[in-house]
Amino acid sequence: MAAPEGGGPSFRLENLAAASSPAGTGAPLRGGDLGRVLTVAPAAIAVVDGRIAAVGAPAEVRVANPDLEPVDGRGRVAIPGLIDCHTHPAFGGDRANEFDLRAQGADYERIHASGGGIAATVRATRGLDADGLRAAVSRHMGWMAANGTTTAEGKSGYGLDRDTELRSLEAVAAVGALETVPTYLGAHSVPPEFGSGDEYLDYALSEVLPEAARVAEAADVFLERGAFTAEQADRYLRAAREHGLALRLHGDQFTESGAIPLAVELGARSVDHLEATGADGVDRLAGSEVAAVLLPVAALYLRRGMPPARALIDRGAVVVLATDFNPGSAYCDSLPVVMTLACTQLGMSAGEALSATTVNAAWVLGRSERLGRLAPGYDADIVLLDAPDWRHVAYHLAGRDIAAVYKRGRLLA
Ligand code: NIG
Ligand code: FE
Repeated sequence: MAAPEGGGPSFRLENLAAASSPAGTGAPLRGGDLGRVLTVAPAAIAVVDGRIAAVGAPAEVRVANPDLEPVDGRGRVAIPGLIDCHTHPAFGGDRANEFDLRAQGADYERIHASGGGIAATVRATRGLDADGLRAAVSRHMGWMAANGTTTAEGKSGYGLDRDTELRSLEAVAAVGALETVPTYLGAHSVPPEFGSGDEYLDYALSEVLPEAARVAEAADVFLERGAFTAEQADRYLRAAREHGLALRLHGDQFTESGAIPLAVELGARSVDHLEATGADGVDRLAGSEVAAVLLPVAALYLRRGMPPARALIDRGAVVVLATDFNPGSAYCDSLPVVMTLACTQLGMSAGEALSATTVNAAWVLGRSERLGRLAPGYDADIVLLDAPDWRHVAYHLAGRDIAAVYKRGRLLA
């Protein structure tokens, strides 16, 4: 589901508490604003045609919306539907073997250099037909929805040939339940049939990008040793921008290789990872409109240092959290788990973790006027927690507190 549909259910959700970033403009939250959460208890939410018409004290919401059918919220806590702005759901096979090898001391980058890693998943993904790939993406995104995700970005990047990349993007766009945002990660890795990154980009930019741009909203590149150089990333992203795509970068995962300066120069939406980012990079992001998308599961899986979340927030950067769901470095589909890691490993408050998976994640996907808040005019994307307090979504590690997930007023899970 890529674009908003008209219509949707109407009802009045009662007997609740509600917690969300306060109403605001579509601008992302920075610094002290990131952690501010407005709680209303008791609360009711009026939903009209799949949109939030009112959130507030039950009597006020009832008086203003008397004809809506009441729905019992059973004392649950409503938070905005979670938004996962960085996922890789389009793949075949798995990498449980590599996970176990790494557990016994093997190194991720060395596995990649010797033809495993991303290349292993590319082989498995090329072996799927369109139906198989669609089934895989739906299954992965169904897991996300069950964990409270109502909108998810989904990257290609495990095909790296024309047909498999296009099939991947179409499979992401075709997911029917949650809202999806396809991203063309054409520059993920150099596939084995090409002698160099430059030769591969000659092919990808002429044969794949023009068609990928008809389905995708954004383009992404893995700028890292062993993947693509800053010069190659510059070439790829400029071509993507000419096709009208928003720009994203995987950068500073293992080394600072120029992703942040390039992202600022090109006006990219985000640089994602940032485990290796130092003080200069933090300052450059803080002085820019480029979001810092932090992926603590990848750092955890690969036993790397965590990204400098506290410095980024305190300096005023736009900080966002995402799962990075993929079969190699982050086999995790749960934003609540990411929120737990944010609070325990990144020094973020629960309020900062909530805004970073709602309002700011919506901004990275160009949807912050419509998604990420419980506020009038926003889509009725609502997660109900069976917990005494909204902070349990982060507090309860891998908990099962999610009682209901609404997308535009329809029950998803
Ligand atoms: O974001 N860093 C590059 N790409 C993915 C992992 C890809 C893989 O290992 O399959 C990531 O971590
Ligand atoms: Fe990623």
